[in-house]
Amino acid sequence: MILRDMSEADLDAVLRIEREVHAHPWTAGNFSDALRSKYVCKVYENEGRMLGYAVLMLAVDEAELLDIAIAAGQQRHGRGRKLLEEMMALARRQNMQRMVLEVRASNAAAIALYRKAGFSDIGLRRDYYPAENGREDAILMGRDL
Ligand SMILES: CC(C)(COP(=O)(O)OP(=O)(O)OC[C@H]1O[C@@H](n2cnc3c(N)ncnc32)[C@H](O)[C@@H]1OP(=O)(O)O)[C@@H](O)C(=O)NCCC(=O)NCCS
Repeated sequence: MILRDMSEADLDAVLRIEREVHAHPWTAGNFSDALRSKYVCKVYENEGRMLGYAVLMLAVDEAELLDIAIAAGQQRHGRGRKLLEEMMALARRQNMQRMVLEVRASNAAAIALYRKAGFSDIGLRRDYYPAENGREDAILMGRDL
Protein backbone atom coordinates (compact mmCIF):
# COMPACT_ATOMS: atom_id res chain seq x y z
CA MET A 1 0.00 0.00 0.00
CA ILE A 2 1.33 3.42 -0.87
CA LEU A 3 0.58 7.01 0.05
CA ARG A 4 0.94 9.47 -2.79
CA ASP A 5 0.05 13.06 -3.60
CA MET A 6 -3.53 13.66 -4.71
CA SER A 7 -4.07 15.54 -7.99
CA GLU A 8 -7.09 16.92 -9.85
CA ALA A 9 -7.08 13.69 -11.89
CA ASP A 10 -7.98 11.76 -8.71
CA LEU A 11 -11.05 13.81 -7.88
CA ASP A 12 -13.65 11.56 -9.56
CA ALA A 13 -12.46 8.56 -7.56
CA VAL A 14 -12.06 10.63 -4.39
CA LEU A 15 -15.58 12.04 -4.74
CA ARG A 16 -17.03 8.57 -5.29
CA ILE A 17 -15.63 7.48 -1.93
CA GLU A 18 -16.45 10.78 -0.24
CA ARG A 19 -20.12 10.57 -1.27
CA GLU A 20 -20.30 6.92 -0.30
CA VAL A 21 -18.98 7.33 3.27
CA HIS A 22 -20.02 10.84 4.36
CA ALA A 23 -23.59 11.97 4.97
CA HIS A 24 -22.35 15.51 4.36
CA PRO A 25 -19.59 15.08 1.78
CA TRP A 26 -17.04 17.61 0.61
CA THR A 27 -17.71 18.94 -2.90
CA ALA A 28 -15.35 18.86 -5.88
CA GLY A 29 -14.75 22.55 -5.16
CA ASN A 30 -13.67 21.78 -1.57
CA PHE A 31 -11.05 19.32 -2.82
CA SER A 32 -9.88 21.65 -5.60
CA ASP A 33 -9.51 24.45 -3.04
CA ALA A 34 -7.50 22.13 -0.78
CA LEU A 35 -5.19 21.22 -3.68
CA ARG A 36 -4.81 24.87 -4.71
CA SER A 37 -4.16 25.92 -1.12
CA LYS A 38 -1.26 23.48 -1.00
CA TYR A 39 -2.78 21.49 1.82
CA VAL A 40 -1.24 18.07 2.20
CA CYS A 41 -3.67 15.95 0.14
CA LYS A 42 -2.77 12.26 -0.01
CA VAL A 43 -4.27 9.24 -1.69
CA TYR A 44 -3.84 5.83 -0.12
CA GLU A 45 -3.83 3.03 -2.66
CA ASN A 46 -3.04 -0.58 -3.26
CA GLU A 47 -2.03 -1.85 -6.71
CA GLY A 48 -3.59 1.20 -8.36
CA ARG A 49 -6.86 0.93 -6.42
CA MET A 50 -7.80 3.85 -4.22
CA LEU A 51 -8.50 2.71 -0.66
CA GLY A 52 -8.87 6.16 0.87
CA TYR A 53 -7.39 9.61 1.25
CA ALA A 54 -6.65 12.32 3.78
CA VAL A 55 -6.23 16.09 3.81
CA LEU A 56 -4.02 17.92 6.28
CA MET A 57 -3.52 21.65 6.79
CA LEU A 58 -0.16 22.68 8.23
CA ALA A 59 -0.11 25.91 10.25
CA VAL A 60 3.06 27.05 12.06
CA ASP A 61 3.54 24.05 14.36
CA GLU A 62 0.05 22.55 14.33
CA ALA A 63 -1.42 20.19 11.73
CA GLU A 64 -5.19 20.07 11.30
CA LEU A 65 -6.69 16.91 9.84
CA LEU A 66 -9.47 18.23 7.58
CA ASP A 67 -10.68 14.98 6.04
CA ILE A 68 -9.88 11.28 6.19
CA ALA A 69 -11.83 8.44 4.62
CA ILE A 70 -11.54 4.79 3.73
CA ALA A 71 -13.79 3.36 0.98
CA ALA A 72 -16.84 1.60 2.42
CA GLY A 73 -15.83 -1.89 1.25
CA GLN A 74 -12.32 -1.44 2.67
CA GLN A 75 -13.18 -0.41 6.22
CA ARG A 76 -12.44 -2.29 9.47
CA HIS A 77 -9.14 -3.75 8.26
CA GLY A 78 -6.85 -1.33 10.08
CA ARG A 79 -6.48 0.92 7.04
CA GLY A 80 -7.90 4.06 8.62
CA ARG A 81 -5.50 3.63 11.52
CA LYS A 82 -2.57 3.11 9.14
CA LEU A 83 -3.50 6.13 7.03
CA LEU A 84 -3.85 8.29 10.16
CA GLU A 85 -0.44 7.12 11.40
CA GLU A 86 1.10 7.93 8.01
CA MET A 87 -0.39 11.45 8.20
CA MET A 88 0.99 11.89 11.73
CA ALA A 89 4.44 10.75 10.62
CA LEU A 90 4.30 13.15 7.69
CA ALA A 91 3.29 16.03 10.00
CA ARG A 92 6.18 15.17 12.35
CA ARG A 93 8.60 15.32 9.44
CA GLN A 94 7.29 18.84 8.77
CA ASN A 95 8.16 19.75 12.40
CA MET A 96 4.52 19.92 13.51
CA GLN A 97 4.18 19.64 17.28
CA ARG A 98 0.46 18.81 17.49
CA MET A 99 -2.36 17.41 15.40
CA VAL A 100 -5.94 18.61 15.88
CA LEU A 101 -9.26 17.78 14.22
CA GLU A 102 -13.01 18.26 14.46
CA VAL A 103 -15.44 15.37 14.31
CA ARG A 104 -19.23 15.09 14.39
CA ALA A 105 -20.43 13.97 17.83
CA SER A 106 -22.40 11.14 16.15
CA ASN A 107 -19.38 9.74 14.26
CA ALA A 108 -18.62 6.86 16.62
CA ALA A 109 -16.28 5.08 14.18
CA ALA A 110 -14.02 8.10 13.67
CA ILE A 111 -14.04 9.03 17.37
CA ALA A 112 -13.03 5.46 18.29
CA LEU A 113 -10.26 5.54 15.67
CA TYR A 114 -8.90 8.85 17.00
CA ARG A 115 -9.02 7.73 20.65
CA LYS A 116 -7.18 4.54 19.74
CA ALA A 117 -4.56 6.65 17.98
CA GLY A 118 -3.94 8.72 21.12
CA PHE A 119 -6.20 11.71 20.53
CA SER A 120 -8.17 13.18 23.41
CA ASP A 121 -11.06 15.65 23.58
CA ILE A 122 -9.97 19.27 23.81
CA GLY A 123 -13.25 21.10 23.23
CA LEU A 124 -16.78 21.15 21.91
CA ARG A 125 -18.39 23.43 19.33
CA ARG A 126 -22.13 23.33 19.92
CA ASP A 127 -24.38 23.03 16.85
CA TYR A 128 -21.38 23.40 14.59
CA TYR A 129 -22.43 21.12 11.73
CA PRO A 130 -25.66 21.02 9.72
CA ALA A 131 -27.36 17.66 10.34
CA GLU A 132 -30.44 15.69 9.32
CA ASN A 133 -32.55 17.20 12.06
CA GLY A 134 -31.10 20.63 12.64
CA ARG A 135 -27.53 20.92 13.87
CA GLU A 136 -24.90 18.72 15.44
CA ASP A 137 -22.00 19.36 17.85
CA ALA A 138 -18.36 19.15 16.78
CA ILE A 139 -15.90 17.50 19.14
CA LEU A 140 -12.40 18.96 18.95
CA MET A 141 -9.66 16.42 19.49
CA GLY A 142 -5.91 16.68 19.54
CA ARG A 143 -2.64 15.00 20.42
CA ASP A 144 0.99 15.92 20.65
CA LEU A 145 3.18 14.58 17.89
C1 LIG B 1 -13.27 6.58 10.30
C2 LIG B 1 -12.70 5.66 9.23
C3 LIG B 1 -11.65 6.43 8.41
C4 LIG B 1 -12.04 4.44 9.91
O1 LIG B 1 -11.44 3.65 8.89
P1 LIG B 1 -11.24 2.06 9.06
O2 LIG B 1 -10.24 1.62 8.06
O3 LIG B 1 -12.56 1.37 9.04
O4 LIG B 1 -10.65 1.99 10.53
P2 LIG B 1 -9.69 0.85 11.16
O5 LIG B 1 -10.07 -0.47 10.60
O6 LIG B 1 -8.28 1.29 11.01
O7 LIG B 1 -10.13 0.91 12.68
C5 LIG B 1 -9.31 1.46 13.69
C6 LIG B 1 -10.15 1.57 14.96
O8 LIG B 1 -11.17 2.54 14.77
C7 LIG B 1 -12.36 2.09 15.45
N1 LIG B 1 -13.44 1.88 14.48
C8 LIG B 1 -13.33 1.90 13.13
N2 LIG B 1 -14.55 1.72 12.57
C9 LIG B 1 -15.42 1.59 13.58
C10 LIG B 1 -16.82 1.39 13.64
N3 LIG B 1 -17.57 1.30 12.53
N4 LIG B 1 -17.40 1.34 14.86
C11 LIG B 1 -16.67 1.44 15.98
N5 LIG B 1 -15.32 1.62 16.00
C12 LIG B 1 -14.72 1.69 14.82
C13 LIG B 1 -12.01 0.82 16.15
O9 LIG B 1 -11.55 1.15 17.45
C14 LIG B 1 -10.90 0.29 15.30
O10 LIG B 1 -10.03 -0.56 15.96
P3 LIG B 1 -10.39 -2.15 15.99
O11 LIG B 1 -10.68 -2.56 14.59
O12 LIG B 1 -9.14 -2.74 16.55
O13 LIG B 1 -11.60 -2.27 16.86
C15 LIG B 1 -13.83 5.11 8.31
O14 LIG B 1 -14.85 4.59 9.12
C16 LIG B 1 -14.41 6.15 7.39
O15 LIG B 1 -13.90 6.39 6.29
N6 LIG B 1 -15.54 6.77 7.81
C17 LIG B 1 -16.23 7.76 6.99
C18 LIG B 1 -15.44 9.03 6.89
C19 LIG B 1 -15.28 9.70 8.23
O16 LIG B 1 -16.16 9.70 9.06
N7 LIG B 1 -14.09 10.31 8.42
C20 LIG B 1 -13.77 11.04 9.62
C21 LIG B 1 -14.22 12.43 9.50
S1 LIG B 1 -13.78 13.38 10.93
